[in-house]
Amino acid sequence: MRAHVITHGCQMNEYDTHTIRSELVAGGHHIVEHADDAELILVNTCAVRGKPVEKVVSLLGEFRKEKQAGRDLTVGMMGCLAQLEEGQEIARKFAVDILLGPGAITDIHDALNALEAGRESYESLRFKSDLDTLIPPAPDALTGFLTIMRGCDHHCTYCIVPTTRGPEVSRPVESILAEAEAMRDAGVQEIMLLGQNVNSYGLKDEGIPSFAELLRLVAQVGIPRVKFTTSHPMNFTSDIIDVIAEEPNVCNFIHLPVQSGSDRVLRRMAREYRRDRYLDIIREIRAKVQDVVISTDIIVGFPGETEEDFTQTLSLFEEVGYEHAFMFAYSARPGTPSAERFEDMPREVKIERLQRLIDVQKRYAFEANQRWIGREVRVLIRERQENGEFAMGHSDQNHTVLVPKDQVTRLGLHHVRVEHVTPHTMYGSVVGARTTAVPLVMAS
Ligand code: 5AD
Ligand code: SF4
Repeated sequence: MRAHVITHGCQMNEYDTHTIRSELVAGGHHIVEHADDAELILVNTCAVRGKPVEKVVSLLGEFRKEKQAGRDLTVGMMGCLAQLEEGQEIARKFAVDILLGPGAITDIHDALNALEAGRESYESLRFKSDLDTLIPPAPDALTGFLTIMRGCDHHCTYCIVPTTRGPEVSRPVESILAEAEAMRDAGVQEIMLLGQNVNSYGLKDEGIPSFAELLRLVAQVGIPRVKFTTSHPMNFTSDIIDVIAEEPNVCNFIHLPVQSGSDRVLRRMAREYRRDRYLDIIREIRAKVQDVVISTDIIVGFPGETEEDFTQTLSLFEEVGYEHAFMFAYSARPGTPSAERFEDMPREVKIERLQRLIDVQKRYAFEANQRWIGREVRVLIRERQENGEFAMGHSDQNHTVLVPKDQVTRLGLHHVRVEHVTPHTMYGSVVGARTTAVPLVMAS
């Protein structure tokens, strides 16, 4: 079959899409770039907020219309929304043929066989253990994701993920290292270790390394850059900070979601740390890791958030000086404790606070970027604009960096002098295109 996969949501979904594509190819199917050319379309969905759910509804509506108009099309819903009653209702409404939860993506073969044999539809919502040891082929790209654990054992009251992705399961270390080695051998220059909460890797299992130990082992595989996401302040221990400081190829970039600067809100969110503890971690990171960039996730307008609570979030931003942040208005997700127990606040209040926070954040990001003017950063250039004049990449600290494209004859790692900046982008010139071979890391 000619198959096309549409991916919404986080990097975990991107990784799962890569796995499902390789499963489809292994099953004799062809991946096509455009949905219009496909006989099978899988939508890998996200359920974390209301907006991504609306996106799925409108996509499935279009596909249903095309099917009604006579197009021969098989449609599947995968990912987080598929695991929820909410998603299953949507799937029924739009007559989706295949429904696979995030723990059941490798059931795609059974699904296609069942439809072939005449079944009307196929559904699998189990959490399969074969996903732990499955090693998808290395991506044909300069960067790649590697999932080290699935699921989440925290129970933040706003979050649907523990329901959609189940309890935490850590992959065996041998399987992770084998995947990292395959990526290195395929020329991948940057690897992003993924998990809902990577810091609690191995905590539940006897005899497997901690996250800090795993990070060191992966660093020693020799891929020029190693990053990881996402972290939880509760499990962000000093030994992790030490590995980041000591291993040259572990990037000086840390995403540490705080969600709110107010202890009262943190308590209602059931986050297991308080503002002071969070700030202690930030101080330790800034003291130990040179030139570190710290980013965060924030939810604005959580039920019951007062103006005073919000002011605490603004002041936390000032204390940390986040270089980057993902900022969201609270979205009440059916089935989460906060949606059941608390009253949502007016949308206008949430949007107004979000806008204020975005304005403040822009200022900190701009000030932080300005400090890099005149300095050299190492950039993994991944793309030359086709119509524009720039080549684009990311620094070791995850800044977006643009250089004139005529300075770039090949993609890969380059040293760039920063010349001017905006709040979200750095502009510079290549100071010497070097080899992308692994020893570069040791030399830099
Ligand atoms: N509403 C708004 N944002 C949310 N997030 C998770 N659940 C919700 C929700 N119900 C945000 C958190 C999390 C990020 C991935 O999405 O900030 O860290
Ligand atoms: Fe969305 Fe969370 Fe699922 Fe990722 S894990 S796709 S962010 S709901």
